[in-house]
Amino acid sequence: MFFDTHAHLDDERYDEDREELIARMQDQGVDPCMTVGANMRMNRFAVELAKKYPGYLYAAIGIHPNDSEELTEENFVWLMENAGDPVVKAWGEIGLDYHYDDVPREMQQEVFIRQLEAAREVDLPVILHIREAHGDALDILRARKGSLPKGVVHCYSGSYESAVEYMDLGFLISFTGSVTFNNAKKLAAVSDKIPLDRIMIETDCPYMTPVPLRGKRNDPLNVKLVGQFLADRRGVSVEELSAVTRENGLKLFRIP
Ligand code: NI
Repeated sequence: MFFDTHAHLDDERYDEDREELIARMQDQGVDPCMTVGANMRMNRFAVELAKKYPGYLYAAIGIHPNDSEELTEENFVWLMENAGDPVVKAWGEIGLDYHYDDVPREMQQEVFIRQLEAAREVDLPVILHIREAHGDALDILRARKGSLPKGVVHCYSGSYESAVEYMDLGFLISFTGSVTFNNAKKLAAVSDKIPLDRIMIETDCPYMTPVPLRGKRNDPLNVKLVGQFLADRRGVSVEELSAVTRENGLKLFRIP
C-alpha cells in the first residue's frame, strides 16, 4: 500500500470523476491520502471532502506563500478552529516561494512564521512548500530550533546539503514526480542519499505528473510510479519502499 501524502483533490480537473477516482484509489492500494489546502477555498474543500471519507482521506489546511494576503484575522481564526477537527492532520502547505515575485518576500516570511507558530500551538505537523528560497527558509527554521513543529519539506527540490539541514531540524523530505523528470538527474541523486526512514512520497497532483505519463493529468494512483522510481534507484523492492515511506507518513501525521 502507498500513502499519497500530498494531493490537491479539490482541483477542478477532478470535478467530473472525483468519486470514481477515489474509489479506484481505494481499490488499487493508495491508502490513505492527504488532500492539501493552499488557500481558503481549498482549505474548506479539503476538510469537507475528508469528512466524506473518514479513516481514508485526511486534510491539511494552511495558506501557501503565493496566497499570503489570504491570512486575514478572520481566516486565521477559521484555521485555528479547524485545526482541531479530527480529519485535519497537518498545517500546510506553508513556506516561501521566490519563483514568482508577485508576493513581497517580507510578507511571505511573516505569514510563514505566523503559521509555524500557530502549528506548534495547536500541535500539528507542518507541510512546507519551499521553492527557490531554501536559504531564507532555513534561516527562519534554524532561528526557532527547539521550538519547531514536526514536519515535511514537500516536493523537495533543493540540494543535498539543504536536505541535511532540514533533517537536522527534524523534518522529513518528500519527493513527487519531479524526481523522475529527465532534467532532474541531480535531484534524483539527492534522493539516493536520504535515509529511507526520512523519506515520504507524494504526487502533488494534478501537478508534477511522473515519467512516463508527463503531459497527462496527474492523480494519486501515480504515487506508485514515484515509489517505483526511488526503489529502482536504491535497489530495494517497491514493497519495502512503499511500506517504509507510508509508515513515515502515518507517524508524522499521527494517523492510526
Ligand atoms: Ni501542493
